[in-house]
Amino acid sequence: MSRRQTKREEIERMRKEQEEQSSGPRRGMGAAAGKIRLDADTGKLLVRLFSYFEKKHLFRLALAAVCVVVGALISVRSSMFLGRVIDNCIKPMLMEAVPDFGPLKQAMGTMALLYGINVLAILIRQLTMVEVGNGLLYKVRTSLFGHLQTLPIGYFDTHPYGDVMSRFTNDIDNIRQLVSRSLTEVFSSVISIVAVFIAMVRLSWKMTLVVMGTIIIIYFVSIAIGGASSRNFTLRQNSLGLMNAFIEENLNGQKVVQVFCHEEKIKSEFDERNSDLKKKSVIANSLAGILMPINASLGNIQYVLLAVVGGYLAINGKGTLTLGMLASFLTLSRNFTRPVTMISQEVNSLVMALAGARRIFRVMDEAPEADEGYVTLVPAVENEDGSVSETDHETGVWAWKYPHKTSGELEYVKVRGDVRFYDVDFSYTPEKQILYDISLFAKPGQKLAFVGSTGAGKTTITNLINRFYDIEDGKIRFDGINVNKIKKADLRHAMGIVLQDTNLFTGTVEENIKYGKLDATYDEVVQAAKIANAHNFIMKLPQGYDTVISGTGSQLSQGQCQLLAIARASIENAPVMILDEATSSIDTRTESLIQQGMDRLMAGRTTFVIAHRLSTVQNANAILVVEGGRIIERGTHEELLEQKGRYYQLYTGSTE
Ligand SMILES: Nc1ncnc2c1ncn2[C@@H]1O[C@H](COP(=O)(O)OP(=O)(O)OP(=O)(O)O)[C@@H](O)[C@H]1O
Ligand SMILES: [Mg+2]
Repeated sequence: MSRRQTKREEIERMRKEQEEQSSGPRRGMGAAAGKIRLDADTGKLLVRLFSYFEKKHLFRLALAAVCVVVGALISVRSSMFLGRVIDNCIKPMLMEAVPDFGPLKQAMGTMALLYGINVLAILIRQLTMVEVGNGLLYKVRTSLFGHLQTLPIGYFDTHPYGDVMSRFTNDIDNIRQLVSRSLTEVFSSVISIVAVFIAMVRLSWKMTLVVMGTIIIIYFVSIAIGGASSRNFTLRQNSLGLMNAFIEENLNGQKVVQVFCHEEKIKSEFDERNSDLKKKSVIANSLAGILMPINASLGNIQYVLLAVVGGYLAINGKGTLTLGMLASFLTLSRNFTRPVTMISQEVNSLVMALAGARRIFRVMDEAPEADEGYVTLVPAVENEDGSVSETDHETGVWAWKYPHKTSGELEYVKVRGDVRFYDVDFSYTPEKQILYDISLFAKPGQKLAFVGSTGAGKTTITNLINRFYDIEDGKIRFDGINVNKIKKADLRHAMGIVLQDTNLFTGTVEENIKYGKLDATYDEVVQAAKIANAHNFIMKLPQGYDTVISGTGSQLSQGQCQLLAIARASIENAPVMILDEATSSIDTRTESLIQQGMDRLMAGRTTFVIAHRLSTVQNANAILVVEGGRIIERGTHEELLEQKGRYYQLYTGSTE
């Protein structure tokens, strides 16, 4: 699959998932509209999400809930305050010649106290939710990343990294919104609505009817405008996603852009996307922008209506509504409309968060790489009779600890590096078989070379030795033990591998080499670098072994990256080496450096080397020619030349 194709698929996937994410929530101030697609799994998703709260979080959540209730009650109480002050303090004072300010002062004092408590409750609630929310996200991130580490390589073949990345960014962020804000807002709104509604009905049910009438109008206006706005937000999101993908792709390929002088073309393509984004943003934001003032105006109309109806009732209502009650009601009505609008906004973010959670859990539900291996690698000492026994310290000798399942007997097999394939078939995907009937053997200390056209299956064969993938048919034995019985981590410890693409990590040169053996000493690092022929160039770097290199290794040449990768594999000191030579052409001097490095690394070990330069494989014990997923020739350099077959063609073709 070409990189371009993968990229395009990635874009397609991103687009699809964006649509998937945005189609639910954004359509309609939808919450209220009831148009939001709250899927059947909503409850399960929430329960699963909340299971990431720890016990100590539960206590804090309860505390926050108490604070919310206290806040809502105080808010209702304070709405009633004005009415009480008018009816109980001010009106009596108006009738007295010498007004008594006592009750007024007392009422004010109580209110001040309540407001103080309210401020405190809000403070506690916010701080706890910040703590709890981030605690939850911390756990989600940890388990997501942890789970990724358990997934088989096949997962990463089929899921572009951009797609996986977005779960750590967009999706987690949506959950953050939910936990740190929406959750408390919705809860507090519901409590407020109930409390305020009761208070309003108790004051005057007639006026409550007026409030409900206007709320319904506000609700329908919100659906109409909000719906249009959210549809455009969806379009905007898609447009944004495409623009981001475009930027990413071109940043990655900046060199190619300049080589082909595509700067102007790229600029105009970017312009197109950018103006599309602008257009859609303007529409979406304008609609969202007018919704607020329209709702505010409707709220004001409601206020006037209430004042008129209330005034009428106060004058003609035969004492059913006092002036103070009217004042209280007006404040209450404001406190009623606000949480209603709030909920309709927050349910959107609930659905967004659920979409995010669903995507995250989809990754977490991916089955981890299966490993039924029970044979382990242990340090050992050699006995006089040639057998090995286990020790508790490193000796340089290793053994396979093999508990036989049927007999219950514990066997120790010395690790020698004998690898054999018996009639192995393999395919990455069911549609296309890649390897057919591969049989081969490498005795301890032998060097086996794979040659063949690009795409023939050389890398694939080595991917099977370390069990990146499991074979369909046939058998692979390591020191006589079926590799399926060996624990994967232990199997991989028994091999030093230089992959075809050299990946380095951000850190110092020393740290990068130590990647092969975390507890290596500085001397071991230098030793490994010397074996790999990397020492000289490292010493020429500004800070030697302490030079920080970026993950892309862009400050180093490709050949230097390869030398580091060889040093990294060398420090492992494993009995089997797999060297997949990078295809990039490098200068002849670096080539010979790499060659020397590889040769030193191979000394005394079983080695599988995939070579693109046939000059490097002539001293191999056996050369295997791979074509179309089959081994078509096997022999030494001389034997194969004599056969005048494919190898002869490759060799003479490449040297002519
Ligand atoms: N992860 C994968 N998923 C599906 N197909 C793959 C995957 N990796 C490789 N292939 C396919 O398997 C075949 C063999 O690929 P492989 O990488 O083994 O070739 P190779 O001999 O190492 O080639 P090169 O010399 O270019 O490195 C190719 O047809 C390739 O398209
Ligand atoms: Mg390859």
